[in-house]
Amino acid sequence: MEKVVLAYSGGLDTSVCLKWLQEERHLEVVTFSAEIGQGLNFEELRSKALSSGASKVYIEDLREKFLNDYVFPALRAGAHYEDEYLLGTALGRPLIVKALVEVAEMEGAQAVAHGCTGKGNDQIRFEVGASSLNPNLKLIAPLREWSLGSREEEIDYARRYNIPVSASKESPYSIDKNLWGVSIECGALEDPWEEPSSEIYQLTADPGKAPQKSTYLKIYFEEGIPTRLDEKDLSPIELVTRLNEIGGKNGVGRVDMVENRRLGIKSREIYECPAGTILHLAHQALEALTLDREMLHFKKAVSQRYGELVYDGLWFSPLREALDAFIRESQKNVTGTVRVKLLKGRCEVVGRQSDYSLYDERLATYGKEDAFDHQAAKGFIDLWGLPYRVKAMRGGGK
Ligand code: ARG
Repeated sequence: MEKVVLAYSGGLDTSVCLKWLQEERHLEVVTFSAEIGQGLNFEELRSKALSSGASKVYIEDLREKFLNDYVFPALRAGAHYEDEYLLGTALGRPLIVKALVEVAEMEGAQAVAHGCTGKGNDQIRFEVGASSLNPNLKLIAPLREWSLGSREEEIDYARRYNIPVSASKESPYSIDKNLWGVSIECGALEDPWEEPSSEIYQLTADPGKAPQKSTYLKIYFEEGIPTRLDEKDLSPIELVTRLNEIGGKNGVGRVDMVENRRLGIKSREIYECPAGTILHLAHQALEALTLDREMLHFKKAVSQRYGELVYDGLWFSPLREALDAFIRESQKNVTGTVRVKLLKGRCEVVGRQSDYSLYDERLATYGKEDAFDHQAAKGFIDLWGLPYRVKAMRGGGK
């Protein structure tokens, strides 16, 4: 019997996939689940997979790897999609795919399968990722292939095969959660005019009901990677978890956007990314202090391109790797501390400091310590404006 490794979350879709692959495709199914901050119950998941016929169950805690190898590189790159989305879901996919392919190779499986729908970005990330890593693996996307047309039909199918589903627990929203944030869509959110109801939020307080008093934080970065919070060295997991808590309590990191999916569909998505919002802002402030103008301006374009590659499922591409090499080089001096203030949904930078600071108070001051050569400005301005003066003299003033 051929073997397939299924990326399994234990939710309705992948639970039905697990049975369907056995019943309709006559495959032996091994499941693989990755804990990246969604809070999996390992024991429950294991027994659920086994009772639905999995021949073997893999569950791995990949939280640390997720932050070190995917999230922090994207943070250093300043990666975002369409200005607002900090790529929580999108960054998790290549990590899961890589581990899935490794399990498939270890198991000698012929195929991998996932529970993504046929309209979203995640199927692209899974399949382009898996085939970039191992082009010999077959890719199975049951949700694109089966004839179950609705959630109700899936629930019927699950009941028929005694797959435990708590339909009441199935919320009308689709929620994807990891350490870098939460993505929420479907249900009432499909109307982009409709304000999200307060119960959808998983991590953040309503900014209107958040504390009246400001919370100050000091974040230390070492070559663009956050390592310390308020003078305390923290592991990546501790640091991000802590910032999600503090940011969430202050209502920081909510995004409500309409975005362009890779397949051409516009979709409305709500994101919550407290830690990411604080860290991106603080990191940017430190770059503003330590990078020269040319580097800063050039890097902005890289941030956008990097974010698009992540969004588009091209993590395992030569361009992403080359951009990462550039980013790594750019971060050599991005070491120092940033002070931020959180208040009612807002996060503001209020101070920054670095041994590599390029800020020179004697050059910046308007006081009597001023060391800037004012006369030099005149020559510069003469030359800077020269082409336009020539043009104006030729009568082309407008
Ligand atoms: N739109 C986001 C992306 O493509 C998130 C997709 C998953 N969203 C969800 N609510 N399940 O990365």
